[in-house]
Amino acid sequence: MNTVKTVRELRAAVARARSEGKRIALVPTMGNLHSGHTALVTKAAQRADFVVASIFVNPLQFGPNEDLATYPRTLAADQEKLLQAGCHLLFTPTVEEMYPHGMADQTIVRVPVVSEGLCGGSRPGHFDGVSTVVSKLFNMAQPDIAIFGQKDFQQLAVVNALVRDLNMPIQIIGEPTVRAADGLALSSRNGYLTEAQRATAPTLYRVLKQIGDALLAGEQDHERLLADGKKALEDAGFRLDYLEIRQAVTLRPAAAEDQDLVVLGAAFLGKTRLIDNLHLSKVP
Ligand code: PAF
Repeated sequence: MNTVKTVRELRAAVARARSEGKRIALVPTMGNLHSGHTALVTKAAQRADFVVASIFVNPLQFGPNEDLATYPRTLAADQEKLLQAGCHLLFTPTVEEMYPHGMADQTIVRVPVVSEGLCGGSRPGHFDGVSTVVSKLFNMAQPDIAIFGQKDFQQLAVVNALVRDLNMPIQIIGEPTVRAADGLALSSRNGYLTEAQRATAPTLYRVLKQIGDALLAGEQDHERLLADGKKALEDAGFRLDYLEIRQAVTLRPAAAEDQDLVVLGAAFLGKTRLIDNLHLSKVP
C-alpha cells in the first residue's frame, strides 16, 4: 500500500489503476481507525479492484469549540490496519494541499434540508464542511464507488443528496454500524470516555432499541416514546442533544403512518458527544 500526500500523486495512481481497467473505490476517513472503518475498506475491496482510503482531519467541519486540536492522529497504526484490510492507496493531504487558497475563500457545497436540524442544528456549518470536503475528495479521486458508515446516518443522507443533486457518477454505499459487544457504536471519540462513562455509553443504543421495538410493536405515540427515552438517558447521566424519530430518507419528522423510520440520538457524557441511530421498517 502506497501513501501519497498530494493530489497530483493521487490522480497519477488512480489513472494508472484505471488504465489497467480497475474499478476504483474511495473510503474517506479522518483516521484513528477502528473496526468500523476497516469494515468499510473490506467492503470496498469486495466491490472494487483498487481501494483508495483518505485520512484528513477536516478543519472545515469542526466548530470553534470542538475537538479539532485534540482529535486523535494515529497514522502509523492506521496504515497498518488499512494494509491488512486490503487498501491499495492511502491519501493523507495536508490542510494546505486540501485548501491551497485558504479556508475563508473556499467554495462551499451546501446540501439543503437533510443537512438541517439534528447534528446540523447542533453543529452549525458542520455539514457544509463535510459536503465540501467530500466533493473535493470525489473530484480528486474520481471513484466509481464510495463507502460510508451508517453510524453517521445524517452524513450518509447528505452525501447521497449531494451525489444525486450534482449528478456525480459515483455509487454511494452505506455500511452497517459496527458495535462493541455491549452495543456501543464504535467511534473514534469513544477513546475520550472515562471508564465510568464507557460503562454508561451503551445506554444510548439500548434506548434507541427500546423505542424501535415499541414502534415495531405498533406504538404510534412518538412524543411519549421520545419523552420516556429522554428521561432514561438523563437518568443514566447523559446530557441530551437530541432524540428524534424521523423519516429515514428525507429525515423529516415522522408521522404515525410513516413506515421507513430512523430513530436518531445524540447526547453528551461529560464533554464527549456520542451519536447513534436505528433504522427500521414497519413494512411487514
Ligand atoms: O465521517 C468522517 O470521518 C468524515 O466526516 C468524512 C466523511 C471523512 C469527511 O471529512
